[in-house]
Amino acid sequence: MTKHVFITGGSGFIGTRLCELLLEQNNKITILSRDPESVRQRWGNKIDVINELSELTTMTPLDWVINLAGEPIVDRPWTQQRKALLIKSRVTLTQSLFNTLNQLTTAPEVIISGSAIGYYDDTGNTIFTESSRQGKGFAAKLCQDWEQAAVSDKPHSSRLCLLRTGVVLGKQGGMLKKVSLPFKLGLGGQLGNGKQWLSWIDLDDICQLILFLANNKACQGSYNATSPNPITNYDFTKALGKQLHRPTIATVPAFILKTGLGDAASLLLGSQRILPAKAIKAGFEFTSPDISSCLQHCCKK
Ligand SMILES: NC(=O)c1ccc[n+]([C@@H]2O[C@H](COP(=O)([O-])OP(=O)(O)OC[C@H]3O[C@@H](n4cnc5c(N)ncnc54)[C@H](OP(=O)(O)O)[C@@H]3O)[C@@H](O)[C@H]2O)c1
Repeated sequence: MTKHVFITGGSGFIGTRLCELLLEQNNKITILSRDPESVRQRWGNKIDVINELSELTTMTPLDWVINLAGEPIVDRPWTQQRKALLIKSRVTLTQSLFNTLNQLTTAPEVIISGSAIGYYDDTGNTIFTESSRQGKGFAAKLCQDWEQAAVSDKPHSSRLCLLRTGVVLGKQGGMLKKVSLPFKLGLGGQLGNGKQWLSWIDLDDICQLILFLANNKACQGSYNATSPNPITNYDFTKALGKQLHRPTIATVPAFILKTGLGDAASLLLGSQRILPAKAIKAGFEFTSPDISSCLQHCCKK
C-alpha cells in the first residue's frame, strides 16, 4: 500500500538512494531540507520538499517518518564550534521533529530515527550487539543523546526503531567515495596498524533494512545497521585494492590522522566489531553480506 514518507536528511547519501527505492514502490515522499531548491532540481515534482518542520502540520498524514539528518562527522576536527553543530543537527533537530510529530492530529505508524555504531565507542576485538554496553567518548554521548531525544518524546501510538548505522559503502558517497581516488592512484593503504575492526554495510542493504523495519510491525528498539561480517582495516584495504586492481603498499600513520583530525581520528583508528543480531533475528537478509560482494556491487554501478 502507498505510504506518505517524511524524511529528514533525504537529500543525503543514504536518503537519496532510499528515495529512489520508495519511489519505485509508488510511495509519496516529503523531504525536510535547508536547500529546497536543490531538492526540486534533483527530483522535480516527484518529491515534495519543506524547509521548516512547522509545515508538517498542514500536510496530509504521515505514515512513516525517517530521521537521517546530521552534519558530516568525520570530515573535520571536533572543535567546540563543530561539536555544537554536530549536536544541533542531530539531537536538537530530533527534539524539534518529535515535538512537531506530537502536535499532529494523526501520529505516524512508524518512526525510524538515526544513530550510529559510535554509540558503543571502541570495542577492540570484542564482538558487540545491540545489548552490549554503551561507550563514553564524544561520539558515543552524541549517539546516546540522539537516541534519547527520540525515545523520550515518541508519540504514544507510533512504533520507534533506532538505526545504529555502521560505515555505509556505496559508490556515490560516504567512505568509499573519499578513499577511491587515492586507491585508484595506487596510494591506498591501511590506516594506522590496520588491526582495527570496520563494521560496514552496503548502501542498498541499509536502505532495504530501513524498509524492512518500517514494514515489520514486530520490529522496535535499536538495530545495528551493519553487515554480518565486519573486517579489519587491513583486510578492507586489501579487498578494495583487489577490486580496483591497484597495489596497497602505502600506510597512513596514525599520527598523521590525529594531527589532521584531532579527536575525530578516533572514528578511523578506533575498532568497532559490531554484529546486526536483531536484524538477523527478525529475518532480514543482506544482499551483500561480505566485503567482496559489496565492493563488486559498489564498483559495478
Ligand atoms: N554514511 C555513513 O557511513 C554513516 C555512518 C553512520 C551514521 N550515519 C548517519 O546517517 C545519517 C545519514 O547519513 P548520510 O551519509 O546520508 O549523510 P549525508 O550525506 O551527509 O546527508 C545528511 C543530510 O543531513 C542534512 N544536514 C546536514 N547538515 C545539517 C545541519 N547542520 N542541519 C540540518 N540538517 C543537516 C542534509 O540535508 P539538507 O542539506 O538537505 O538540509 C544532508 O543531506 C547521518 O545522520 C549520519 O550521521 C551515516
